[in-house]
Amino acid sequence: MPMLMNVLRRTALALAMSSPAMALAQSPAATKPATADPGARVYAANCVACHQDNGQGVVGVFPPLVGHVPGLLARAGGRDYLIRVLLFGLLGEISINGQNYSGAMPPWESLSDSDVAAVLNYAAMGWENKTRLPADFKAFQVGEIAAVRSEKLSSAAVHTLRRKLISSNAQDGSAATSSLVTFTSEQAEEGKFIYQRNCADCHGSTLDNGEFGGAPLRGAWFQNKWGKGSVAPLYAFTKVKMPPDRPGAMSDKVYADVVAFILSANGYEASDKALPLDPKAQQLLTLKRD
Ligand code: HEC
Ligand code: HEC
Repeated sequence: MPMLMNVLRRTALALAMSSPAMALAQSPAATKPATADPGARVYAANCVACHQDNGQGVVGVFPPLVGHVPGLLARAGGRDYLIRVLLFGLLGEISINGQNYSGAMPPWESLSDSDVAAVLNYAAMGWENKTRLPADFKAFQVGEIAAVRSEKLSSAAVHTLRRKLISSNAQDGSAATSSLVTFTSEQAEEGKFIYQRNCADCHGSTLDNGEFGGAPLRGAWFQNKWGKGSVAPLYAFTKVKMPPDRPGAMSDKVYADVVAFILSANGYEASDKALPLDPKAQQLLTLKRD
């Protein structure tokens, strides 16, 4: 069945590229209104939650793509970098327009080559970006994506690529000072209950003995992946991706509770200050321990 759906989707994409009007006419009535641009559709399905409809992201949490992607493309190596960000994700602190982002962009290796090319073209040419593109810009091609897949870089390695790309990258000292993450013991206790019912099957009773591919949520690997920046990306990832069969299904409060539980299991201490739900406030709470 999923195979069939894929074939149907590809066919729809091919149609959309050859004839937008036809794709519209053929799109199943039950789904959202079809848009002629396959990249817009991939974007709406996979990127909107973080980078937002208008491509402006969320200040300090999810970087903007509008007004920003053309600038990356204008740099030598920018095009190659963008393909790798999409396929392999990005992990580590970056600075855009004086604003720091210390988040994690999930890898999108699961998207097909044509979906990756389409969404890159959308990020490059969507919104008013098309007016700012370098003159020699050519649309991303399916073959370019296929050629890079086998590199299988880590998200951290992509961050190193970015540093090279922006070698004049003077990370301007962030204006706001951050402090160690806070959460209350009530949050952690509520979160434990939620965790046992919704997460333990995959991530395990001790958070590092899971089945069904659940990544360890405790220990060196977890600390290395999430412990270098603020709590915002961990919260955002959990909310946007977990549990995998119904991501985003729980309330913000419940996501904060379960994150508080994960933190307590990693040795962070509860206090009388709650873990906030607001991403901007979360951005000021670091997971970095000395
Ligand atoms: C769960 C949230 C999330 C989702 C979903 C997401 N991103 Fe990102 N994205 C981020 C974060 C956070 C960063 C910055 C990572 C960092 O600070 O290391 C980022 C970085 C990027 C960058 C690099 C920006 C730069 O300056 O280097 C691009 C391009 C990008 N995302 C495009 C996309 C596209 C296209 C999609 C959909 C296929 C997508 N993102 C989905 C969170 C997300
Ligand atoms: C059906 C199995 C499944 C369930 C249920 C599930 N997860 Fe996951 N989780 C995964 C898989 C697989 C990954 C790694 C894949 C990925 O990064 O998207 C993951 C990754 C994560 C990560 C990132 C870990 C890392 O370092 O990459 C966090 C945090 C997380 N899950 C939290 C939760 C929470 C909290 C719940 C319950 C609300 C939950 N998960 C429920 C399967 C599951």
